[in-house]
Amino acid sequence: MGVCQEVNINFTWMKNMNDVNRRIVLDERPRYIIPTANCFRVVTEPKPRAGKGEMLLRNLWLSMDPYLLSKVKRFSQQGEPLALGETMNGLAVAQVLSSDNPDFAAGDMVMGLLPWADYVATDGRRAVKLKVQLPRLASVPGALGYAGFTAYLAVMVTGKAQQGETVVIGSANSGLAQIAAQLAKRQGARVVGISLGEHQCSVPPAQLGFDAYIDSRSETFAEQLRASCPRGVDLYIELVGGDVLDKVLPLLNLRARVVVAGLKALYTAPGLPEGPDRTMLFLNEVMVKRLQVLGLVNFDHVKEHYSEFKKAMVAWINAGEIQVVENVVDGLENAPRALQTMFESNAYGHVVVRADA
Ligand SMILES: NC(=O)c1ccc[n+]([C@@H]2O[C@H](COP(=O)([O-])OP(=O)(O)OC[C@H]3O[C@@H](n4cnc5c(N)ncnc54)[C@H](OP(=O)(O)O)[C@@H]3O)[C@@H](O)[C@H]2O)c1
Repeated sequence: MGVCQEVNINFTWMKNMNDVNRRIVLDERPRYIIPTANCFRVVTEPKPRAGKGEMLLRNLWLSMDPYLLSKVKRFSQQGEPLALGETMNGLAVAQVLSSDNPDFAAGDMVMGLLPWADYVATDGRRAVKLKVQLPRLASVPGALGYAGFTAYLAVMVTGKAQQGETVVIGSANSGLAQIAAQLAKRQGARVVGISLGEHQCSVPPAQLGFDAYIDSRSETFAEQLRASCPRGVDLYIELVGGDVLDKVLPLLNLRARVVVAGLKALYTAPGLPEGPDRTMLFLNEVMVKRLQVLGLVNFDHVKEHYSEFKKAMVAWINAGEIQVVENVVDGLENAPRALQTMFESNAYGHVVVRADA
């Protein structure tokens, strides 16, 4: 996998020059579903200047999140795609270099929806001051961003995991699942993770809250799952979609909850899966077992739950109760490759780009 194309450059000497800025722009739509490095190019230009009431930011960490796919596709249900030639943007952590905005001062750390660039001049409307400290700044995008917040909502707010219950979580290698597992464990639940491959992360599954960790590609997947859930399943957190739900369905207990928070297999599939349509089977289970199926999109809950979540998550991480696993890719120019990595099933943890490396 190569880095994205660079234009206008003699890059080696420019990289360290303080007056140069690099931006990653969308150059073409994905030719085959997943955005590859070729979809982007690096534009080099003079460093931007902050105008009246603005501040100048240095991006430090870019967060790779699945919803970014919606920005590069031609059509998306999740948001307005970028036009070709526009600068890619997403959740990022940055430092204020200088500020003419009274709400921010040089040295402040901020988090916000920011362009993928070395430097950003902004009025600050899309950024908030990061007033908390975590052992590693790299953990912030995953722990306090979409993945951590959605994990919290899925386990504590929408799914309401309880002591003694069995919680099954799809896409167990993902950053979101790893945080959700630890939260469910804290609640006193038995936690079973289902991944699309072997456990990839250097941190053992048990340390991430999983009592059992099952590869859905295994020939004995259904048997392993049944054996891992001897008292059935009370809460299923769906992050991936596809065949896994078929195997979880018969194990769901009466009045179990199914929180649908992600369908990653669908985002990268060329079309609907072949074979019989299982919708009626699913709906029959919903009726017979009085299941509660709950759709979850994090931004519905920001006003009501984000501050309580942030306070709790920062305390848990600083007390060593929740571990956040980052999958670090160095260099702004490698952000497109990092985005691609996130849609490959051998990824693990929350993918972040060290923009200033
Ligand atoms: N509803 C919301 O508000 C909300 C917010 C944030 C995220 N989400 C969803 O939560 C899920 C996880 O998000 P995240 O931010 O934690 O993502 P992430 O860390 O980037 O997820 C990477 C994981 O996705 C799985 N994966 C990669 N390619 C795949 C493919 N082609 N087919 C199936 N699985 C694939 C792999 O896990 P395995 O090997 O374990 O399968 C990989 O480790 C996504 O579905 C995302 O859309 C929802």
